[in-house]
Amino acid sequence: MQILTTAAGLQAHTESARQAGRRIGLVPTMGALHAGHLQLVQAARAECDEVIATIFVNPTQFNNPDDFRLYPRVPDADAALLAPAGCTALFAPSVEEMYPQSAVLRFDFGDLERVMEGAHRPGHFNGVATVVSKLFHLARPHRAYFGQKDWQQVAVVRQLVADLSFDLEIVARPTIREADGLAMSSRNRRLGAEARAAAPLLYRVLTAGAEQVRQGVAPAQVQVQAEAALATEPLLTPEYFAVADAQTLQPLAGYTPGRAVVLCLAAHLGGVRLIDNVLVEV
Ligand code: PAJ
Repeated sequence: MQILTTAAGLQAHTESARQAGRRIGLVPTMGALHAGHLQLVQAARAECDEVIATIFVNPTQFNNPDDFRLYPRVPDADAALLAPAGCTALFAPSVEEMYPQSAVLRFDFGDLERVMEGAHRPGHFNGVATVVSKLFHLARPHRAYFGQKDWQQVAVVRQLVADLSFDLEIVARPTIREADGLAMSSRNRRLGAEARAAAPLLYRVLTAGAEQVRQGVAPAQVQVQAEAALATEPLLTPEYFAVADAQTLQPLAGYTPGRAVVLCLAAHLGGVRLIDNVLVEV
């Protein structure tokens, strides 16, 4: 596995792969890798000839300076996981390399980002769109792999690709969970023992809500009951719980047969912000 740290190095590497007729898969990450990330690498390995993973803790997508400062960074452990998973090159640039000058361009994804993560983390999706656009331009992948754990991020990236005519295919893979249901996340490393023990409540609340949606319980009622269940855990401070259209992400007043529903939540637990979601086909 080659390790690349410069934008020019990444461009040269992927350009020569493309010239040789190799299909390029891109897996953007912020590192502190776990099985959720590695399944993206494995999917890319199965479908592409060249698998480029990127590790970059992108400052422009953090609205909270402490979250950026405390974000886990374990480059050696990450590199050791990537090669056996089938990664052919790792791009791990510095902040200066990715942002030789501050990015001025501002993205506005309209209604898609007026809800959930977009509403609660001002500027977050602008930063995601900026860095993902840079990576797409530098690597020019045939396919780029994202996790459904960040459901709204996938929707935003699909919109970015459509609006700017990026010539690539977005592949979205399911959320990988711990045995007790907690969605894997790099931030889980920061949970203390008590917070970690309480964390599976998030997925339990989502699955209970999903069952209610399947039974036709009204969205407002599902939300009230989910919020009540979240309130039973003193360590947990809920940020939002939403019953939304899986495509537009807009809150639902009722269900439409054939239109998938997504239940999404964010909560603070022992100083760590966690998000999760489940999809329901109705
Ligand atoms: P990061 O949080 O490191 O996640 C990298 C990719 O892994 C994302 O597509 C995310 O959805 C996916 N992922 C994370 N946990 C997962 C899980 N438990 N199951 C399945 N997939 C999972 O998302 C980002 O980084 C950044 O915003 C990025 C896209 C790299 C832009 O900076």
